[in-house]
Amino acid sequence: MSRVLICFALSTLAATASAAPQDLKAQGEQVFTAQKCSLCHSIAGKGNPKGPLDEVGSKLSDGEIRSWITDAKGMTEKTHAARKPAMKAYTLSKEDVDALGAYLSTMKKK
Ligand code: HEC
Repeated sequence: MSRVLICFALSTLAATASAAPQDLKAQGEQVFTAQKCSLCHSIAGKGNPKGPLDEVGSKLSDGEIRSWITDAKGMTEKTHAARKPAMKAYTLSKEDVDALGAYLSTMKKK
């Protein structure tokens, strides 16, 4: 009896600790919409065509994508990005950054 309980507890823990990759991407898509990233960026033809992110996963590493989300000002300086308005600094939870990163890194050249 007690062994069954422990197994149950462990599997519940594992499930809450890390969301499946598929869930994370879906969550990232939601954060992208909620944060209105599409004011300046487009994905699959939706949003601002001046900043397409459809191939950002081929162009940038996961770390670079993350840096844009967590330190837009620093990345703007570092890359000498000239497009205006410049990307503003976001303060998102680690969970949202993880989700956005997972979502955007799947955007690869077809
Ligand atoms: C006010 C406009 C604006 C908003 C809103 C904005 N960005 Fe940006 N972003 C930019 C600009 C400008 C650049 C510089 C590169 C370019 O010209 O597209 C950039 C660059 C990026 C890059 C690197 C793209 C590349 O091709 O090198 C990523 C990734 C990115 N933004 C993600 C996001 C995400 C995620 C959000 C929402 C949380 C967001 N941006 C919101 C303006 C914006």
